[in-house]
Amino acid sequence: MTKLTKKVVIGNLKMNGSLHFNEKHFSDIKSGVNDFSDVDIGVCVPYPYLFQAQRIFQKSNIFWGSQNVAKDSDGPFTGEVSVSMLSDFNAKCAIVGHSERSTAYCESDENIALKFSALKNKLMTPVLCVGETLIEREAGIMERVVASQINTIRKNYGKNIFADSIISYEPIWAIGTDLAASPDQADHMCSFIRGLINDTENNNVEGLKIIYGGSVNSKNALQLCGLESVDGALIGRGSLNAEEFIKICQIVNSI
Ligand code: PGA
Repeated sequence: MTKLTKKVVIGNLKMNGSLHFNEKHFSDIKSGVNDFSDVDIGVCVPYPYLFQAQRIFQKSNIFWGSQNVAKDSDGPFTGEVSVSMLSDFNAKCAIVGHSERSTAYCESDENIALKFSALKNKLMTPVLCVGETLIEREAGIMERVVASQINTIRKNYGKNIFADSIISYEPIWAIGTDLAASPDQADHMCSFIRGLINDTENNNVEGLKIIYGGSVNSKNALQLCGLESVDGALIGRGSLNAEEFIKICQIVNSI
């Protein structure tokens, strides 16, 4: 299990890159963040490039992972990739529940909960994405939507399943739009999630990181990641440009 003790920046490359592109991109990121010791940095790559991420990042301060994982451990599940297959490439984390998957591939909260638990069973770090649509925000039900996503996991496995995990609050309207949540909105929702999981008993789940994702760039990273309630960021487009990604890491490193 990767113990994350600092603010975290994770790149989500989505379905981008190629062997050729990654070779330079990963190497540029590796040398650019080499000196940053006050931020934990990860990169989530498409499955076929896990071996390349492993080769380039293995002697660096960067961990790597995937953008999805199977809920089952093995068997007749064409096209799926299990947690232990990810471990074969020393992957430390996997994104689960990203809205681009749950919307396009109709992934249910129950499925996401199973994937979350499969990762925890093999001591990998789940990066769980939760967030509301614009319509849900305008209707003022964002807390209810996010609570229901999280509670599906909690009711099946208890709150301690969230120890040493990452939850990324990603309002769907902010992803890929250049319309990041305001610091107030991010603060409110990240605090809400923390309160929901830690409830009233005052015994906090250990090692839980709550980060923000959705149009984070080097211009807004300080405002968003500087908040006490926000433990870092999940970066989509900004992770496709090494210079921009390094700049974001540098900003978070300096907080
Ligand atoms: P974005 O994507 O930074 O391009 O908005 C974030 C995400 O989908 O994780």
